[in-house]
Amino acid sequence: MIQFETTRLIMRNFSIDDVNDFYEYMSLECTAQYESFEPFTYDECIASVTRRCERDNVFAVVLKESGKMIGDINFSIEEYDTYELGYDFNPTYCKKGYATEACKAVIDYIFKERSGRRIYAECDDDNFPSIRLLERIGFRREGYFIEDVTFKKDGAGNPIYVNSYSYAMLKREWTSDK
Ligand SMILES: CC(C)(COP(=O)(O)OP(=O)(O)OC[C@H]1O[C@@H](n2cnc3c(N)ncnc32)[C@H](O)[C@@H]1OP(=O)(O)O)[C@@H](O)C(=O)NCCC(=O)NCCS
Repeated sequence: MIQFETTRLIMRNFSIDDVNDFYEYMSLECTAQYESFEPFTYDECIASVTRRCERDNVFAVVLKESGKMIGDINFSIEEYDTYELGYDFNPTYCKKGYATEACKAVIDYIFKERSGRRIYAECDDDNFPSIRLLERIGFRREGYFIEDVTFKKDGAGNPIYVNSYSYAMLKREWTSDK
């Protein structure tokens, strides 16, 4: 069991008891808007949380004061000790700095406990909350890609291509007091 905390939050492995809190935000169109998935059904949430319980590269983000699970942060491991970061938070608990606080803690964990050397994240060029989050944490914008990716289709079933930014940070650039 991996668990670490910040002033307001606990980051820990998923538990099957997280299904209802997970469904609360993963079933929403606004969560899926910039993601490769569509809003989850309740059954898809059960299946996803069941898989997440077996993984140590995705953390549930939990409010210390209430035990409420308000979001999740995942990372994938690639070549050259590089990690890709991803996150989804419940909009009811957004705009309070929780995602910033949680991402900083997970970045610290990757650099200090998982021998990460470089962390990157990608987001649509109109996903302004995500752009602000990455820049607030201190990621550098490394690339801007025009119509490089498609996650959604239009009414006629044609792929909608979107522009994306790539952001990154090196371990030597990271100071945990950011
Ligand atoms: C991306 C996402 C995690 C950002 O969430 P968020 O609530 O904006 O981020 P935070 O929790 O860090 O809150 C930061 C905001 O709260 C404000 N804030 C309030 N109290 C704060 C505090 N104590 N500390 C830091 N920020 C605080 C900040 O000013 C900031 O507002 P701003 O974005 O208008 O400048 C969220 O929008 C989300 O989950 N979106 C759907 C999924 C998604 O798009 N994922 C990413 C795909 S690339």
